[in-house]
Amino acid sequence: MDKLFIVANLKSYKTETEARVWLEVFKKINENPQVFTQKEILICPSFTLLSLFSNFFKENNLPVKVGAQNVSPFEEGAYTGEVNAGQIKEFGDYVIIGHSERRSNFKESDDVLLNKVKISLEHGLTPVYCVQDKDTLVPENVSILAYEPIFAIGSGNPDTPENADEVAKSFVDKNKIVLYGGSVNPENIRSFTQKENIKGVLVGGASLDGQEFIKIIQNA
Ligand code: PGA
Repeated sequence: MDKLFIVANLKSYKTETEARVWLEVFKKINENPQVFTQKEILICPSFTLLSLFSNFFKENNLPVKVGAQNVSPFEEGAYTGEVNAGQIKEFGDYVIIGHSERRSNFKESDDVLLNKVKISLEHGLTPVYCVQDKDTLVPENVSILAYEPIFAIGSGNPDTPENADEVAKSFVDKNKIVLYGGSVNPENIRSFTQKENIKGVLVGGASLDGQEFIKIIQNA
């Protein structure tokens, strides 16, 4: 993957009405279609918005990928409240797994995360697997990682590009593609993406505004 990978994690934000506003703003990315030759853009909205986003990108001929922020560790079945990999695959090709907010708020263990990865791969979804530091366990067959130190998430206090690059290198040495996430914004993005071992970013807060997200993409 030579293109820079720019991922928006919209977290548990946006009603359908708000998402439509975001999409109309984001559509202006098309005024600079050359960004798509250098950058792979992936948007991860809530489950309820997956179909809206994927249809919008198709209808507007935008080469933008869609992914989920979570996946059931089970196949389809009697698992009330869960959304399974086969259901996600109808709308998107990616899924974020192992985000620290899921590990801490929903007590997701390494075993559960391993099941999520396995089942996602079986359904043709590519996991973007979040690691919090060099020692985070990474399930086999994961190819894309996002290094997101907990202190940097939503804090306005990103890791230093030098440290992020060093952590990324430890995973690049194991043949992983590594993204950085944690307080990325239009001003600091370049300091990360110009590092040798960082192949893209995972953006939370700064992706919630369509215009700001376009700036991030342009500055990357
Ligand atoms: P942030 O979130 O950009 O708001 O720090 C990143 C993430 O949690 O994926």
